Order: sequence, then C-alpha cells, then structure tokens
Amino acid sequence: MSNGQFRILGIETSCDETAASVVGDGADVLSSVVSSQVDLHARFGGVVPEIASRAHLDLLMPVIAEALVEAGVDGPDLGAVAATIGPGLIGSLLVGVSAAKAMALVWGVPFVGVNHLEAHLYASFLEEPSLEPPLVVLLVSGGHTQLISLEQDPDGPPRTFIYRMLGQTIDDAAGEAFDKVARFLGLGYPGGPVIDRLAMDGDPTAVQFPRSMLNDGYDFSFSGLKTSVITWVRKQSEIEVADVAASFQAAVVDVLVAKARRAAAEVGANGICLAGGVAANSALRERLLDACIEDGIQGFLPSRAMCTDNAAMVAATAWWRLQADGPTGLDSGAYPNLRLPVA
Ligand code: KG4
Ligand code: ZN
Repeated sequence: MSNGQFRILGIETSCDETAASVVGDGADVLSSVVSSQVDLHARFGGVVPEIASRAHLDLLMPVIAEALVEAGVDGPDLGAVAATIGPGLIGSLLVGVSAAKAMALVWGVPFVGVNHLEAHLYASFLEEPSLEPPLVVLLVSGGHTQLISLEQDPDGPPRTFIYRMLGQTIDDAAGEAFDKVARFLGLGYPGGPVIDRLAMDGDPTAVQFPRSMLNDGYDFSFSGLKTSVITWVRKQSEIEVADVAASFQAAVVDVLVAKARRAAAEVGANGICLAGGVAANSALRERLLDACIEDGIQGFLPSRAMCTDNAAMVAATAWWRLQADGPTGLDSGAYPNLRLPVA
C-alpha cells in the first residue's frame, strides 16, 4: 500500500515485448514501460523463441527499474507483483514469472499470475472504467482471433466475468495473416503496421479477395485469403503494392466487423470492444466504430499502446483477479497453451 492506493507491479514477457508497469487500484497507470524486441527478430521474419527469452533476460531488470522509478514506488511499497503466466513462448514466460515470484518473495507481497488473453480484455476496462457488460470483445492478435461475449458473474465480485467463446479462427490468426502477406510482399516484420500504413494510399476495391466464412457462424478463416493474395500477385506482371495491401486489409476487416456486429446483436450486447495487436489497425477501428454508431451501441477502441502487448493491462487484471481468487501460489508454473476460462 502506498498513498492509500494498492499498487501492483505488472510484468509482461509472453512474446517479444519486455514490459513492466505500476498500476494503482486497478485503474491508475503510474508507469508503463515497453521495450520491443522487434528489431532483433525482424531479419528472421518472425519471433525467434530462443532470441526472445535471452533478450527478456537482458532487458527485464532495467525495464522493471524504470517502471518503479517512473511510478515513484519502492518494491516493498507494492501491494503485489503480477506476471503473465500464459499463453506465450515458454522460455519468455518463465523469465517474467521467475522474476515476479522472486521479487514477491523478497518484498513479502503476494504474487498474481495473469492470463495474457484476459489481460487484453481488461485493457478496455482500464481505459474506459464506465464500460458495462454484456459486451462483445473482438480479440485479434498475432496468435489469436476470438469473438468473446462477456457478462458480469452474478456470484463474483465486481469486474469478474463469465466469458463465452462465440467463435475463433479455424486456421491463421488475423495478425498472422497480416504478417504472412507482408512477408510475401517483402514488406518486413511485423506486417500489420506496414500494411496499415501502405493501405492508406491504396484502393481497397482494386482486387476482390475472398471474404471467407462471411455469413457462416462466428468462426474465422484467414489462410485461404493469404493464399489467394499470393496466387493473385504471382499472376500479375506488375502490381501496385498499396492496392494489394488495401484490398487484403479490406477483406480481413469486412469479415471481422460483420461477425462482431452480428454477435453483438445476437447476445444483446451494450457494445463491442477491440483488443489485441490488430486492434491498432486504422481501417478496423474506423469501420467498427461506424458500425457501432449505426447499430446504436457503444464501440470502444483502446489506445494503440493498450492494444499491443503491455504490462499495464497485466497489473490491472491482477487487481481484479486478486480480489476474486486471492494470490497465486509460488509453486505455480508458466502455461504456453493457456486458454481463456470460458463457460
Ligand atoms: O497482441 P500483440 O501485440 O501480440 C500477440 O499477443 O500476438 O499482436 C501482434 C500482432 C502482429 O501480428 C502485428 O502484425 C499485428 O498485431 N498488428 C497489426 C497492427 N499493429 C500490430 N495488424 C494490423 N494493423 C496494425 N496497425
Ligand atoms: Zn497479446
């Protein structure tokens, strides 16, 4: 406890961002430091697990020190130390989990293990505390594409939710499709931000790529779209890269927005929230907001920094989980395939 606030140090090392953050009472972001390893992995065209865990080892302590100094907090003043326990790369997860447990032990405060997917969902509540379930969340990242409905658990403390999985990808994740198409087009890694930028100067109607499973339930498929972009490009003698980027992006966004709004109508949601790295996509943000306005529901778009991996969402989630479940045992592990606890 410090200044009457319960402050949690959050640590995120599930993939290629080394991040630490101090959040007060699950709502007040006192610091949020993110050190991206993107440059280390770019020349390999994707995240190399061994390089990622070694980089986390080098970066984590300086990142934590910066987060504590920026927040003006000493370790023993903290109420708890939290870390992402999964899903993610096992070596990377273990760096954050081991550090968090050691610090919790030394400072004599509880350790809280956090589910990375749940943290992406809580990112919305951190930035918009007035959000009221039932809500539909479109979680779109490099590893996941999920449409989830979220309602308050009537038997739990505030902000504990019952999650229902409405649909998910049957092959590639949306972010993976962005990354693979960008790689094929020689645009580098990660592909999402580059395609997003290029698409601004392109014509989204230039090529009619398929909208897979558009009217078919809530599951997604992006692998066929990726193949059709590759096949189409190979048949051309010359291409306008910006047009291909914009047309590909439009195909992804059309499907994501159509399914999210249909799901929101079916479950009677108050609104739709975006979460995960792909939620930083300009076209997706614009189209989703327009759709929500048209349907008379709330559309919540977290800031871009809150969409991509960060530790503030981990610290905020830990505050709510600590009240619902209490501390996590120091004998708990890291879980590379952890899923969202769906009803
Ligand atoms: O959530 P995140 O930071 O890490 C995972 O947990 O996967 O998401 C990373 C993914 C990458 O595939 C990246 O290409 C994509 O998010 N991404 C974007 C944009 N920014 C990041 N995709 C489309 N448009 C963007 N602006
Ligand atoms: Zn993530």
